Amino acid sequence: MAASRHARLLAFALALVLVSLQHCVVCQSNHTHFSMISRHRGDPNAPSRRPIRGSEPAPAPSPDSCYCDPTSEDECYCEPTSQDDCWCAPTPSPSPSPSPKDFLNSKIAVLYPVIQAFKQTITSDPLGITKTWVGPEICSSRFGGDMYKGFYCESPPKSSGDKNSTLTVASIDFNGYGLGAPSLAGFIDAFPDLALFHANSNNFSGVIPNLTGLPFFYELDLSNNKFSGDFPANVVPLGGLLFLDLRFNKFAGVVPSPVFDISLVALFLNNNGFSGEIPNNFGSTTAEYLVVANNQFTGPIPKSIYNTSANLSEVLFLNNRLSGCLPYEIGLVEGLTVFDAGGNEITGPIPLSFGCLASVEELNLAGNQLYGHIPDVLCLLAKNGKLQNLSLSDNYFHSVGRHCLELVRSRVLDVRLNCILDFPHQRPVLECARFYADPPQHCPFVPHIPCDLPGFRPPLAAAAALPAKGGGGGVLPAKRGGGN
Ligand SMILES: *[C@@H]1O[C@H](CO)[C@@H](O)[C@H](O)[C@H]1NC(C)=O
Ligand SMILES: *[C@@H]1O[C@H](CO)[C@@H](O)[C@H](O)[C@H]1NC(C)=O
Ligand SMILES: *[C@@H]1O[C@H](CO)[C@@H](O)[C@H](O)[C@H]1NC(C)=O
Ligand SMILES: *[C@@H]1O[C@H](CO)[C@@H](O)[C@H](O)[C@H]1NC(C)=O
Ligand SMILES: *[C@@H]1O[C@H](CO)[C@@H](O)[C@H](O)[C@H]1NC(C)=O
Ligand SMILES: *[C@@H]1O[C@H](CO)[C@@H](O)[C@H](O)[C@H]1NC(C)=O
Ligand SMILES: *[C@@H]1O[C@H](CO)[C@@H](O)[C@H](O)[C@H]1NC(C)=O
Repeated sequence: MAASRHARLLAFALALVLVSLQHCVVCQSNHTHFSMISRHRGDPNAPSRRPIRGSEPAPAPSPDSCYCDPTSEDECYCEPTSQDDCWCAPTPSPSPSPSPKDFLNSKIAVLYPVIQAFKQTITSDPLGITKTWVGPEICSSRFGGDMYKGFYCESPPKSSGDKNSTLTVASIDFNGYGLGAPSLAGFIDAFPDLALFHANSNNFSGVIPNLTGLPFFYELDLSNNKFSGDFPANVVPLGGLLFLDLRFNKFAGVVPSPVFDISLVALFLNNNGFSGEIPNNFGSTTAEYLVVANNQFTGPIPKSIYNTSANLSEVLFLNNRLSGCLPYEIGLVEGLTVFDAGGNEITGPIPLSFGCLASVEELNLAGNQLYGHIPDVLCLLAKNGKLQNLSLSDNYFHSVGRHCLELVRSRVLDVRLNCILDFPHQRPVLECARFYADPPQHCPFVPHIPCDLPGFRPPLAAAAALPAKGGGGGVLPAKRGGGN
């Protein structure tokens, strides 16, 4: 008796299934009732055929979507490609919290609620990244899976007496995901073994959390987000940081001097609204790559730059409002390969110490208020050193060393828009005369060459220094009929 009732029920259910499948068209009506079609029943690990929006609430109804009986616990899904293909499935239980034993280990189990809580705060997710943040497989990528996009597991260094190599989340890489969230606090700071956080090109903002409790943390990339306000104070005490990238945000105000005491390898602060002077302890930086370009920095390039000598390779001061004399000490930074201070208000002659930059490949000082003689020692770097690009255009230089002429011809050296006699594309004579009559600042000319340059004899200081004041501009192109 019971058996036959079961059979009848089964037949009935089957009929309903068939009817509902045949009438998928009616999915577009919000009054359609569906029977339950259980897929993957009893196998929580089976991949659902269509993990639409994970376990988030059903979307707001729209005329083209399908609906389920609000009294039933089911959810109805439509094929996005065809409005006719619909089926129903049990609503994934709102948050099917995996049980502790579902996780790889206890460290991972602790991270699950952290990720889920952060997921609730996500305001934009154009690539649908967070829909992969479901279930217990947080280390999925480690095993070739595609769940938990952006999370990467490693075994932390065996320093904590933990003999077992416990896999845990060691890096988070959201580069290019376009995720938005009002804050990262309570998220990145809750991964005790985190070493890297990369979030280039997202829409994150808010306060950068205190990460001092993360012993392995060394890379922070928040470039191209929506951060604003003062330099993030919580970054300053991160002694272990090697890579700090805050490019392309809207940070403003001064950069605290302790930033240059962090033993970084790379520091990118460019394209923000930082202002004020570059701190005097700038030279304490251990960075190889240091970019402060495209901000509002004022004041001089700190003379302490000499102190960076061992490590500094590329430094970009480009497009700020730096002023003052070009420091002699730059010539002491032996490892420089790229020096770019273009687009500022720096003045003075080029110190002969620049002739010691044996590794420099690119040197840009264009768009400043530099004057005097372009020293031969500098141009010789193209012959004896590695110099490939020397931009000195848009300044007020009045003459060039002998070896510089070759470089102008071979287009290594750009001297357009200066005050050089008999050269094409120079400033109007009157403008040059006016500049030399009242230069922005008198800078000392330092003829000393702090390195061994065989066969080179420094010229008389006078030859390179500012033409004597009151000389009636006699040294200047004023004599000529008209500079082009
Ligand atoms: C269901 O459809 C009716 C008319 O077709 C409409 O008035 C009603 O607002 C709809 N309900 C929902 C929840 O969309
Ligand atoms: C290490 O792993 C083994 C088995 O995987 C386990 O029995 C042991 O308790 C673990 N030890 C620690 C310190 O976690
Ligand atoms: C940030 O969000 C805006 C819309 O609010 C969007 O236009 C922009 O593309 C997003 N940025 C990134 C990097 O995804
Ligand atoms: C940051 O966190 C550490 C411990 O994780 C704590 O000692 C320190 O006081 C915190 N700093 C601030 C500014 O809250
Ligand atoms: C030079 O750098 C060291 C650290 O590398 C620092 O202790 C020292 O104060 C710096 N000196 C100057 C003048 O900046
Ligand atoms: C150069 O950087 C390394 C780390 O990258 C650091 O150990 C070293 O002290 C730095 N050298 C100087 C002179 O700061
Ligand atoms: C040389 O450097 C200047 C300024 O940095 C740049 O505009 C120019 O494109 C460079 N020239 C070459 C050939 O790389």
